[in-house]
Amino acid sequence: MADLDEFQLLERAINIFQEQFESEASYAACAPGRVNLIGEHTDYNDGFVFPIAIPQVTMVVGRPNSDQMIRVFTAVTEVDHPFLVRFPVPTATSKLAPGSPTWANYVKGVVSLYPGTLSGFDMVIVSSVPLGGGLSSSASLEVATFTLMQSMFPCQVSDKEKALICQKAEHTFAGMPCGIMDQFISSMGSKDHALLIDCESMESKQVQLRLPRQSLLIINCNVKHQLSGSEYPSRRQSCIDAASLLQVKSLRYADQTMLEAHKNDMSDETYRRSRHVISEIERTREAVIAFENGDLAKFGKLMVASHNSLRDDFEVSCPELDSLVEIAMSVSGVYGSRMTGGGFGGCTITLCETSSLEQLMAEVKQRYDGTATFIHASAAAGAHSIVLPNQD
Ligand code: GLA
Repeated sequence: MADLDEFQLLERAINIFQEQFESEASYAACAPGRVNLIGEHTDYNDGFVFPIAIPQVTMVVGRPNSDQMIRVFTAVTEVDHPFLVRFPVPTATSKLAPGSPTWANYVKGVVSLYPGTLSGFDMVIVSSVPLGGGLSSSASLEVATFTLMQSMFPCQVSDKEKALICQKAEHTFAGMPCGIMDQFISSMGSKDHALLIDCESMESKQVQLRLPRQSLLIINCNVKHQLSGSEYPSRRQSCIDAASLLQVKSLRYADQTMLEAHKNDMSDETYRRSRHVISEIERTREAVIAFENGDLAKFGKLMVASHNSLRDDFEVSCPELDSLVEIAMSVSGVYGSRMTGGGFGGCTITLCETSSLEQLMAEVKQRYDGTATFIHASAAAGAHSIVLPNQD
């Protein structure tokens, strides 16, 4: 479904709904995936991130029912079985718990934390966001579900609160202690703009993507290393430990001099992880200024520095991502390239002259030791509901 546009996805979702539930969907909503241009593993350190929402979305359609049951069907076939789940509307005395299939936990989490008054509904999920590709397929499902529920069971919630509730759903129902970046950009992305997000204040600034002769290319290495699952939480913990050792609220308030002064009080691993975060927060600030000034050469250099720091200090890259960055950087007209998202597989993002795109893709096809796929990235709008003709 990766190639379908929003309209085609909607049509597909409506047809599937009819087949599954033998009635017509009356509400629809969608929420985008994202690609982060720079600022990786900084969000849970109160730092800065600089993502765009992408045109790939999770689309959900639904219809309230009258039996206090929630039925959800997913047409995303890469997930675990079964594709249809049913569970009761949670109440004060009967709460929902995460379980199997795991894809449904994102929906259950959002349903459980929804601040409005719910009743039963049926829902279908379709998506063009590649799963497990580091483009926030899970955040887009959470935010799309929330947005659909807002149309069916209205309640006053700001977009920031929505992002925070969806983040909490991911923490409590998917067991992933993520930062706020993915849910924030999926809720609040802006067409033709990247967002500089201050993850402490949750304020953001729109930066126009002025790329008249340049392009952003996402390259999916199509590998997801199944590690122990504790890599992300363990890095998050190292950052918390380092901040407490340096006696600051978060690594946002630490600098290189403070870190050097305490180098001998921490493990080499904690030192290097902290060095990544401190330098990445600084790089993100600098990169955004360079971008605003149209200094793409500098922006590109900072992208590569970010990649190297993620590879060597934070240790979240992998040979496939390193190879894609290396190949990209050997092509003339490429400004910069880096891994994007949590790491250990997924995608890179490359900024290049549009005239170099063909060459770049040809080099990757020829030299990458695997099968890479390409997505031309543009900045799309955040989550929105779609009015269907038969909406009540
Ligand atoms: C994942 C998390 C985000 C962020 C990135 C790394 O995508 O969901 O909150 O921490 O990793 O920048």
